[in-house]
Amino acid sequence: MQQLESLIRAAENEVSRQMQVCNACRYCETFCAVFPAMTRRLEFGAADAHYLANLCHNCGACLHACQYAPPHEFAVNVPQAMARVRRETYEAFAWPQPLGALYRRNGVTLALATAGGLALFLLLAIAMKGSLFHEPLAGNFYAIFPHSMLVWMFGAAFGWAVLALAIGAVRFWRGQSPGAVGSAAAVEATKNALALTYLDGGHGDGCNEEDDRFTLARRRFHHLTFYGFMLCFASTCVATLYHYALGLQAPYALTSLPVILGTVGGIGLLIGPAGLLWLNLRRDPMHGDAAQRPMDRAFIVLLFATSLTGLALLAWRDTGAMAALLAVHLGTVMALFLTLPYGKFAHAVYRSAALLKWSIERRQPNRLRIGGD
Ligand code: HEM
Ligand code: SF4
Ligand code: SF4
Repeated sequence: MQQLESLIRAAENEVSRQMQVCNACRYCETFCAVFPAMTRRLEFGAADAHYLANLCHNCGACLHACQYAPPHEFAVNVPQAMARVRRETYEAFAWPQPLGALYRRNGVTLALATAGGLALFLLLAIAMKGSLFHEPLAGNFYAIFPHSMLVWMFGAAFGWAVLALAIGAVRFWRGQSPGAVGSAAAVEATKNALALTYLDGGHGDGCNEEDDRFTLARRRFHHLTFYGFMLCFASTCVATLYHYALGLQAPYALTSLPVILGTVGGIGLLIGPAGLLWLNLRRDPMHGDAAQRPMDRAFIVLLFATSLTGLALLAWRDTGAMAALLAVHLGTVMALFLTLPYGKFAHAVYRSAALLKWSIERRQPNRLRIGGD
């Protein structure tokens, strides 16, 4: 705990130091929301550092534009300083607090080992009941695992993730004392989150990735990932409605709403993470925090594996390999759910909160009256 405290102070202090330099320079004032938010402050405490860090979209534009970037002695690297504080946000507001340490260990190896271990466990469970390969069952998953068992297992894991992330968000929000949430601010923040407005570098041409060139690739791959994920989630919700409200049992036809939503979402969730991983592997290391790369990549790989195994299950659900494919898919989804509150997914929660705070703040008068939004 003592070590975490000192790390939080070091990362926050570095953001504070760099913001003092930027506040005197202000060259990047129009790039994103971070700089106008900065101009409303003269001092940067811990809460300010966490707010600005989660408002920064890591587009890299201010690093490439900065005359004080390393090797200059001021060593201004805003995206990197902000990235370091973001992990401190995830850890500091984690619930239960001791599990915050998982953000440091949530790498690709752990993600794949969890998915593989769970899949193996389910494969063994099937093998103990009979044979792993079977007569085609016309896609009837519940002949392998009962519906109620799946609902309990996945409902509990998902409920835990929602609870842990919601408690973190409430703690973060309380520390910010942002004022009342107006409807105009809420609509604007939602739009900025859904459109990823601040991944455009301030000029609409996009982010920097491996060099000075701008590209919209990260925003586009993120949209495919985000909306693909949402469609898969919608597919599960519709299927639940079919089951409980309409009494319609799976398997559903290829032309049914749950299957269409799942297929379109799954394709998005395949292309999006593949693209994000490709960009992540090429990105200039100066943009981010090298220590967080395993966490970022673990999340991307798990999202990709979830859609790949899901689409494979759909493609071969009428064959004798359905049980084995189901076990592998369920193991992967369970690993994704279990790591959701202690991995990269946390960014969605804290970034949305920071965007909302910014939309509230920019509607309040700037008491400093020294420029800025
Ligand atoms: C709801 C609000 C969300 C916002 C505002 C948001 C914003 C961002 C931003 C700005 C980045 C780039 C900087 C960084 O690496 O942190 C990012 C990365 C990422 N996001 Fe989101 N995101 C949201 C939700 C989601 C969701 C729901 C998913 C998937 C289920 C997702 C998947 C990813 C992935 C995989 C990356 C890593 C990309 C990389 O390492 O380059 N995001 N997000
Ligand atoms: S990042 Fe560099 S150029 Fe941009 S405002 Fe800060 S000091 Fe100025
Ligand atoms: S990296 Fe991009 S989003 Fe972050 S502060 Fe710089 S310009 Fe703004």
